[in-house]
Amino acid sequence: MTGENYFLGFSPASARNRTPILEALVSLLKGDEAVLEIGSGSGQHAVHFCQALPSLRWLPSEVAQQLPLLQANLEAHGCDNIHPPVLVDLQHPHWSSVLPPVELVYSANTLHIISWTEVTSLFNGVGAVLEPAGRLILYGPFRYNNCFTSEGNAEFDCWLKERNPDSGIRDFEQIDSLARGVGLILETDISMPANNQLLVWKKT
Ligand SMILES: C[S@@+](CC[C@H](N)C(=O)[O-])C[C@H]1O[C@@H](n2cnc3c(N)ncnc32)[C@H](O)[C@@H]1O
Repeated sequence: MTGENYFLGFSPASARNRTPILEALVSLLKGDEAVLEIGSGSGQHAVHFCQALPSLRWLPSEVAQQLPLLQANLEAHGCDNIHPPVLVDLQHPHWSSVLPPVELVYSANTLHIISWTEVTSLFNGVGAVLEPAGRLILYGPFRYNNCFTSEGNAEFDCWLKERNPDSGIRDFEQIDSLARGVGLILETDISMPANNQLLVWKKT
């Protein structure tokens, strides 16, 4: 079975946003970068981007509980430029110490799920694992100047916090401050469909 709907844990949102994200990646990347993805989920983004950009070298990752599902999907649908997925759990403060240096760290729809401690751990690890001039690309909803960018995002934030009080849509200014703290400078902030952003930082 090769159709996208056959991904275990298939994400309809991931199927919708993969095309606009790929268009942005094509405009930003050389196309042959070594990439670490954090919170790969079902692996749909990894497969879509790596099929379109066959010179990318993509290392997907997940927490231990989700890793078997990701492994199964990549065995069924993966391509040659996707490495076997590895364990990355942001609850471990030194998660990046066992990983090779990469030119790009990519993560989609994770910051509003994970706790603030894990957000901090993500930036600390990214600062360590990125090569000089490497980039961090984060996709998802963010707040600016203490405001949501849409009513739908405000409702989504309430839903997230009812589910888990440690979750919630993050403030861009706080995220950018963490980035600057590990030597990353904002390169671009692209507004994406459905009130999401694609944030790109470059390591100085
Ligand atoms: C909403 S899903 C996004 C999945 C995928 N990136 C996408 O866009 O479809 C959030 C992901 O964050 C991962 N995650 C949650 N806690 C994490 C942690 N402590 N470390 C790394 N990933 C984590 C989850 O396992 C999940 O795959």
